Amino acid sequence: MTELNEFLSTETTLEIAKIFSAIEQASFIVSKEVWYQGLGDDIMGARGTENSTGDQQQKLDVYADSVFERALRKSGVIAGWASEESDEIVSFEGNEDASHVIVIDPLDGSSNIDVNVAIGTIFGIYERVSPHGTPVELRDFLQKGRKQVAAGYVMYSVSTQMVLSTGHGVHIFTLEPWKRSYHRVLDHVKMPYEGRVYSINEVNFEDFDEGLKRFIHYCQNKKRANGKRQYTGRYIGSLVADFHRNLLRGGIYVYPGIEEAPNGKIRLLYECNPIAYLAEQSGGQATDGSQVILDMEPIELHQRVPFYVGCNEMMNEAMRT
Ligand code: AHG
Ligand code: MN
Ligand code: MN
Repeated sequence: MTELNEFLSTETTLEIAKIFSAIEQASFIVSKEVWYQGLGDDIMGARGTENSTGDQQQKLDVYADSVFERALRKSGVIAGWASEESDEIVSFEGNEDASHVIVIDPLDGSSNIDVNVAIGTIFGIYERVSPHGTPVELRDFLQKGRKQVAAGYVMYSVSTQMVLSTGHGVHIFTLEPWKRSYHRVLDHVKMPYEGRVYSINEVNFEDFDEGLKRFIHYCQNKKRANGKRQYTGRYIGSLVADFHRNLLRGGIYVYPGIEEAPNGKIRLLYECNPIAYLAEQSGGQATDGSQVILDMEPIELHQRVPFYVGCNEMMNEAMRT
């Protein structure tokens, strides 16, 4: 038993612990290839294909997708999945008696693949609502984010870390690559109430609505008592990495609607919901600019929504207009 599973054995059910065990194994494989940066399997570069939402697929997107799918199928405790890289939901044949389904962004931060910058895997776990013993159905995946029984991400960065919640706070584990297992380094992580960082792709500034423009100006100009700026700008372009920094330092990440993508870019099911779950579990907030993300009723599998996530003080200010 790994330390991660030892921890989960007291936090959650055996089934959920087994799901995490599959994620642990798959993320080690992906982590190793990211680490090798082209010395191992053929994972560098574009693939020349598009996924269902029209994104150019990178080789690593598809590699990570197949590694996680294989591990989760093999676990026997996942009945089916919805992945950013598959047009439709997939029922895992032979696992129809399993009680859980998973939503996943196998590789987050595609523009940072190949340039040795932090990328990740995001996932959310639900209890299925369709009858056990039958193939999974779309309604198993179109549940409100609030119904997640666990969620998390793996970040492949200077170290590989897994950040997770099973509804009892947020915990951070670091991969010990020689043991192929995760070890707990931070418990019950609380996002600072006050923020220091705003993360937004400012090249789109002219597309922002007046409320968001005002908020950006507020961030640029707010001074502390000593006259120094309260905030600084940091934007990596991997949601996982931008959120991770803001979780630890206090900050806000915003991906609003823009001209070429009126609902923004971030997908509700497998990006916003798991991250929003972690945000709330650590004491922060997540909205689409007005509605609470975890209370939104999903309409379709690859639905995009504007995404605001961060610490209370900055979220309150951003939501004021
Ligand atoms: P993905 O790689 O899974 O498609 O997600 C990328 C997302 C998100 O991680 C990131 O914050 C955002 O796209 C970056 O978009 P821009 O390059 O438009 O800023
Ligand atoms: Mn993503
Ligand atoms: Mn992705």
